[in-house]
Amino acid sequence: MNSKKVFPAKLEGTVKVPGDKSISQRVAMLASLAEGTSKVSGYLNGEDARSTLSAMEQMGAKADFRDDALYITGVAGKLQKPAEALNMGNSGTGTRLLAGLVAGAGVEVAMVGDDSLSSRPMGRIRHPLELMGAGIGLSGKKGTLPMMISGGRLEGIGYLLPMASAQVKSCVLLAGLFAKGKTTVIEPRPTRDHTEKLFQALDIPITIDGLEISIEGFGEEGPKFKARDFVVPGDFSSAAFWIVAVASRPGAELTIDNVGLNPRRTALLDVMQRMGADIEITVTEAKGDPYGNIKVRGAQLKGTVIEGDEIPNLIDELPVIAVAGALAEGQTEIRDAAELRVKESDRIAEMVKNLKLFGVDVEEKSDGMVVTGPTHLKTPDVVIDSHGDHRIAMSMAVLNSFSDGAITIDNVSCVDTSYPEFWQHMEKLGGHVQ
Ligand code: S3P
Repeated sequence: MNSKKVFPAKLEGTVKVPGDKSISQRVAMLASLAEGTSKVSGYLNGEDARSTLSAMEQMGAKADFRDDALYITGVAGKLQKPAEALNMGNSGTGTRLLAGLVAGAGVEVAMVGDDSLSSRPMGRIRHPLELMGAGIGLSGKKGTLPMMISGGRLEGIGYLLPMASAQVKSCVLLAGLFAKGKTTVIEPRPTRDHTEKLFQALDIPITIDGLEISIEGFGEEGPKFKARDFVVPGDFSSAAFWIVAVASRPGAELTIDNVGLNPRRTALLDVMQRMGADIEITVTEAKGDPYGNIKVRGAQLKGTVIEGDEIPNLIDELPVIAVAGALAEGQTEIRDAAELRVKESDRIAEMVKNLKLFGVDVEEKSDGMVVTGPTHLKTPDVVIDSHGDHRIAMSMAVLNSFSDGAITIDNVSCVDTSYPEFWQHMEKLGGHVQ
C-alpha cells in the first residue's frame, strides 16, 4: 500500500536509526574500486544505497550481504563498461558522484532514474566534467537525465563551485583522482566532507586548506588502494525527524544511539538548542566520521533565524525544521536555501502548501520561508501527497503527531530510499500508523 494513515501521538523513547545514506553510497563506490574485499558494517538497507551498489556491481564489483554486514570485493581500479544503462532510481548522490568517477575512469556509461531524479539539474556536474575533458550528454529537456558519459584522459582543473553542494564537490574530486595534474575545488560555504574523510581513511592524498580542497591526480589508471573495513554510523538526517518530534514537545525525552555526529551534518542540533530544546551529546568515536549518542528533552520552542553557512549543514533537515517552526512561539525564518527547490521535490513550495493545510501561518520566499507559530493545528481534510519526496512524507508524519486527528499521506514508498524502518520506528516511539 502506497499510503499511510498517521494518528496524533506523543513520540518519545529510544531509537537507533539506519545507516547514513551519504556515507553508505560513497563507501559503495570506493570499496568497489579498491583491491580486495572490504567489510562494511551499518550499510543502509535503503533504495538509494541499493541503486548505487548495484551500479557498482554492473561495473564489476561483487557485493554480498552476510552475517549482518556487507562484503564488497573491488575491481582494483579497473571498472568494466556496464552492459546496460545504470538505473540510479531516486539517488542524486549516486548519480552525481558516480558521474565523476566513471568520467575519470574512462568508462562509457548511460544513467537513468525515476521521475523525481529525472527532473533534477545535472548541468551543475556537466560543466566541471566538460572542463576536465569528459563528454556529458543530457537528453532530458532541461539539462536532466538520461545522461551519457564518456570520459578518460581528464585534465585537473581549478573549480570555484557556483553553489554550496557536496555532491558537485565530490563529483569533481572523484574525477580528479583519475586526472592528469592537480584538481582544486573551492566551496562557497562548507558542505558535508564525507568524501574527503574517506579519501583520508584510504590514504588517498588530499589537501584541505579551509574551503579549498586539492587532489593530485593519478592519471587514467587511477589510484591503487587496498580494501579495508568500514563502519557506517546511523544517519543524522533520519534521526532529525525524531529530534524535532521530541524537541517540540515539552517534557518528552528521546535517546538516539550510534548516530553520525559529523559537524557538517548536525547544525540542526544548534538550531534546536537555540530554539530552547535541551540536547546532550556523547561522542563514542571522534576519529574519521564521528558518531555517538544524542539525548533530547523537549520544550516549548521559540522561533529563530536559519541562514548563511548553517544552511548546507542542515540542508536535508529544513523541511522538518519548518515543522518545528510551526510549533514554536514566534517567527522561524529560513533564508539562503534556494537549493531546496531542486531537491527530490521543490521543498519550499511543498512545505508551504502542506503547512497551510494544517492552518499554519507561513509565507513563501524565493530562498526559504517564514513560519509563525505556535499553531493549533487543524487536521487537513485532504490527502497529503509526498510527490515522491521521502523527507516531505516523513516531515508531515511528524507534524501530524501534534494534531488532533488522523491524516493520510499518499505516495509514501519513497520513504524506503533513506529510512525503510521509519513507520515501524514511529510506532516503537509511541506513534500509531495504519
Ligand atoms: C548529499 C549532499 C546534499 C544533500 C543530499 C546528499 C551528499 O546535496 O542534500 O541529500 O551525499 O553529498 P547537495 O550537495 O547537492 O546540496
